[in-house]
Amino acid sequence: MRSNLRKPYLAAPDIHTLPSHLPLGDLGLLPVNAYLITGREPVLVDTGLAFDKGGFEESLWSLVDPHDLKWVVITHDDRDHCGNLKEVLMAAPNATVITNGLAVSRLAEEWDVPRHRVRTVNPDRTIELGGRGITLVRPPSYDSPSTIAMYDHSTGALFSADSFGTVLPEMVEDAGDADRADFLDGMALFTRANAPWTALVDQAKWERSLDGIRALNPGLVLSSHSPAAHALTGELIETVSAVPSMDPWLPDEDIEVESVLARYEAETRS
Ligand SMILES: [Fe+2]
Ligand SMILES: [Fe+2]
Repeated sequence: MRSNLRKPYLAAPDIHTLPSHLPLGDLGLLPVNAYLITGREPVLVDTGLAFDKGGFEESLWSLVDPHDLKWVVITHDDRDHCGNLKEVLMAAPNATVITNGLAVSRLAEEWDVPRHRVRTVNPDRTIELGGRGITLVRPPSYDSPSTIAMYDHSTGALFSADSFGTVLPEMVEDAGDADRADFLDGMALFTRANAPWTALVDQAKWERSLDGIRALNPGLVLSSHSPAAHALTGELIETVSAVPSMDPWLPDEDIEVESVLARYEAETRS
C-alpha cells in the first residue's frame, strides 16, 4: 500500500508529530500531521491518513503503550484526520474520543463510534485532561462544521486543525526551515482552497475570529497541515487576515487525469 509516513519527531519536549503528506500536483505538498502529547494521560490529536494504515499505528505505538493512551481528540470528521480511528480505538481499550457532536454523526456514515467511548464538546469549552488544561476553540478557517481546535495551556501550543495549514515544495519539520515566502504564500493559498467561504466573510467579523487567536497568543501553532510554527503567530495571523480580500481560488478545470495520476504515483513512495 502507498504511504508517505515519515519518522515521528518532537515539535516540543512533550509533543510528538506523526508526519505524512499528500501531493497536490502543481501546488506542492500538503503536510498531514497527527500529534501525540505525552504525560500522565497521553492525548492523541487526530489519527492520520487511511492510506498510512499499519505504519501509522506502528509509529504511534512506538511512542506510547496502547493501554496508556487516554484521549483521542478528533478535530473534525475529514478523512485525513480520522483515517485510523477505528484501529486506534480497537488497540487502545482505555482511550476516549473527544470531539464535536456533529463529528460523531458524520463519522457514523462510515463507522458507528461506540457512544460509551465518546465525550462530545463544543468550542469555547475548557476541560482538564490528566491535569492538563485544554481550551477548545473554533479556529478561523475550517472545512467541516464539526471542527474544533485545541489550546493546551501547559505547553502554550495551539492544535489548529485545518487553520494555518500550508502547501510547500518540500517537507520540513520546522516552519523556520522553510522559505518564509513559500510558507506564508502556501498558507494563503491553502486557506482559500480549503475554506472558499472566506471570500464571503466580512473583514471585521474575520478579525474578531482572529482576535480569539491573538488573545490565546500561542507560542507554538501546530496545524494538521503545516510544519511546527514556533513564535510565528503574528505572521500567521497577518497572512490569514488578508485572505478575504484575495481573489477566490479554484483548481484547474481541465486537468489531464493520466498525467496527474502518473505524478501522484511518482511522488508517493510504494
Ligand atoms: Fe478538513
Ligand atoms: Fe485537513
